[in-house]
Amino acid sequence: MNNSTFVHKYLAPLIERDSVCVDMTAGGGNDTLFLAQHADHVIAFDISKEAIERSKKRCAAYPDILFICDSHENIRSYLKEKAEVILFNLGYDPYGERNTPTKFSSSLKAVKEAWDLLKEEGYLIITFYRGHPGGKDEYYALKDYIEKNGLFVLETYQRHLKIDEPVTYILKKIS
Ligand SMILES: C[S@@+](CC[C@H](N)C(=O)[O-])C[C@H]1O[C@@H](n2cnc3c(N)ncnc32)[C@H](O)[C@@H]1O
Repeated sequence: MNNSTFVHKYLAPLIERDSVCVDMTAGGGNDTLFLAQHADHVIAFDISKEAIERSKKRCAAYPDILFICDSHENIRSYLKEKAEVILFNLGYDPYGERNTPTKFSSSLKAVKEAWDLLKEEGYLIITFYRGHPGGKDEYYALKDYIEKNGLFVLETYQRHLKIDEPVTYILKKIS
């Protein structure tokens, strides 16, 4: 199964209706839609206006989703309470111009903020795409941060265990 399917299957039994869930990279709206199908409080970020508009259309059945067209590193300005689930699907928008790929400096800042804004027992999920320019730097910068700061990696997932293929990290905030 691909990484998105793995993430959805993993999270589905863990999300409750009153969970606060944040999609840090809305893109095509697939993850946002999945979160909205399981929880009532969903916030979705994307730096691309086009991606936000596309995600809004994809999630039209869920008018309560709060869509934010801003860099996810500014999450603190928008999130009013701590979240149970925060999801990053890094890389470029596969449905758009591919001109707004995530970058390691803003991704790193966003992950730091997200970890701080995660509830105890909450999940921070990051999928890295290491095959595109910049994706490898992003992966190594965030992996280094995760290891040096002792963020708890509950599980990682790779489909074929091939070098440079997408990898998902499931982080859990434990007390
Ligand atoms: C791989 S796509 C996400 C796919 C999406 N989760 C889905 O289900 O279709 C990555 C997205 O991150 C967005 N992005 C890039 N830099 C960003 C930033 N600093 N803040 C928020 N979104 C950003 C891109 O515009 C792109 O749409």
